[in-house]
Amino acid sequence: MIRLQNKLDFNYGNIKIFSGSSHPGLAQEVAEYLGVSLARRELVKFPNDNIFVRLEESVRGKDVYIINTASAPVNDNIMETLIFCDACRRGSAARITVVMPYMPYGRSDKKDQPRVPITARLMADLIQTAGADRYITVDLHAGQIQGFFSIPGDEVSSFHLLSEYLLEKKLENATIVTNDLGFAKKGRNYAATLDMPLAFMEKRRTSNDAKSEILSIIGDVNDRDVVIVDDEISTGGSLMNTLKAVKDNGARDIYVVCTHGIFVGPALERLKAQPFKEIITTNTVPQMHAKSMLPNLTVLSIGPLIGEVMARVHDGRSVGEMWNE
Ligand code: R5P
Repeated sequence: MIRLQNKLDFNYGNIKIFSGSSHPGLAQEVAEYLGVSLARRELVKFPNDNIFVRLEESVRGKDVYIINTASAPVNDNIMETLIFCDACRRGSAARITVVMPYMPYGRSDKKDQPRVPITARLMADLIQTAGADRYITVDLHAGQIQGFFSIPGDEVSSFHLLSEYLLEKKLENATIVTNDLGFAKKGRNYAATLDMPLAFMEKRRTSNDAKSEILSIIGDVNDRDVVIVDDEISTGGSLMNTLKAVKDNGARDIYVVCTHGIFVGPALERLKAQPFKEIITTNTVPQMHAKSMLPNLTVLSIGPLIGEVMARVHDGRSVGEMWNE
């Protein structure tokens, strides 16, 4: 159970919340949750693609939050966030928190081939160098990415939000299926909370271009509903492989749950063409287009959770307490 309590005590100077251009709807929702208005700013993209940000309200001595997610155009939104940080730092903000619900480049978190970058680390360096004092994000691709940052941060988990929604569905005779072994531990949490058995896909990627192949399914899905869980759906390639495998193994109704519904390239067409009972995701990136394409898409808002974390960070109260931790 998540304990929300949107009460701002304003212990840390006045709060200022700026929205980048990536997800104004979510920023507005967070501001409404906190009972404050979004701060005014001017955002310009010049013909030469250079981005300009001007804060139209003073941030001197303020506790500033920049809400900008890494939806498409990803690199523009990253750059815009960094420029926001720089403007806040030069405007003498007391504290700057980058709120990036979907942290990009999470899959580039290790040197697993010769001569490749660790771009997730580079992201952390960029955010810090631009002047951020803290960050807030949702479900990193790998928890260890927290360690790439030297500044404090809060990784908000969507697990309670998603699992409580699934609990309300009262699914019987269902199995949790993880898209790959990397998600096995989180899959086990879903299985334990929902009191369902667990099956895994053993997946091995065959190249860097998002193609992957299922080698085997570990666990029993025959004549059972399945709930496929993952951190993100990008092209939907992994999901299509899992779908084929569970169907070949006799699964009945198929639900899909992920934190980050990124849905790029062929993803929406692929998902639309398949008989999923329901696809459940959050709005860590905007979902209006996906919603118009997929009638069976349920979007749970992460706004109240982010708002509550921001309130607690602002007041210096425990964040773990929200989950009785
Ligand atoms: C992989 O490690 C992740 O958990 C997801 O399975 C992956 O990011 C999904 O990507 P795509 O939808 O392109 O297969």
